[in-house]
Amino acid sequence: MTDAQAGRLWAAAARLAPGARIVEIGSFRGRSAIVLARAAPAAAEVVAIDPHGGSDRGPEEYTPDRERGDADHAAFTENLRRAGVAERVRHVRLPSDAALPVVEGPIDLLYVDGAHRYGPALADLRDWGARVVPGGTLLVHDAFSSIGVTLAQLRLLVAGTEFRYVGRSGTLAEYRREPLADPRARAGNAARQVGQLGYFGRNLAVKVALTAGLTPVARALGSPTWPY
Ligand SMILES: C[S@@+](CC[C@H](N)C(=O)[O-])C[C@H]1O[C@@H](n2cnc3c(N)ncnc32)[C@H](O)[C@@H]1O
Repeated sequence: MTDAQAGRLWAAAARLAPGARIVEIGSFRGRSAIVLARAAPAAAEVVAIDPHGGSDRGPEEYTPDRERGDADHAAFTENLRRAGVAERVRHVRLPSDAALPVVEGPIDLLYVDGAHRYGPALADLRDWGARVVPGGTLLVHDAFSSIGVTLAQLRLLVAGTEFRYVGRSGTLAEYRREPLADPRARAGNAARQVGQLGYFGRNLAVKVALTAGLTPVARALGSPTWPY
């Protein structure tokens, strides 16, 4: 997570009303949960959903690994404690689909940064996105960068009628829930997102170059490190 992304998360949480509900999918070791919890109004509820199963935690880490997951869980707990927000965050140690019936009520701010494969990313945007209140915020990490996340965006958010694309900080995309009834508004919303596909292509090329050990090529493409 970059500083600009932390700033975007902070701003989204800080403008919520007391009593609002924030749901984060994919907490890893707590960095984004800490930003959200610190920025949120005192009476807001902050729910962090992460099974800490050691899978889907980064590139090439798709299979479960109990030891790795438990280490993430211990680091998450300790980081929240050290940041002074342990009491502010309700951690649900479940995969996001299993957490759906456990976390009740509408959502004012949804941050999606869980499993990045197409199936789970699509399910998170569809099933959790449906619970975002009108006027609420949806933030998606690795947008226009991960293939799975981007395909899910194309299917649900570019072609959809419920979320207006606000902008992005690197790969952190922001949407506002505002029904797009007018076909012209829908077309404009889709066009602004399709306009990000050049950035998506650049990110893919950078990842291919880095995976092949061609750092100078990635640097020439404008990102010598993995794009976030
Ligand atoms: C990219 S990391 C999240 C980073 C975090 N938001 C931060 O800023 O530090 C992805 C996380 O998603 C979690 N994850 C994997 N599968 C998940 C699922 N089905 N539901 C929720 N979280 C999941 C992983 O355990 C991992 O911690």
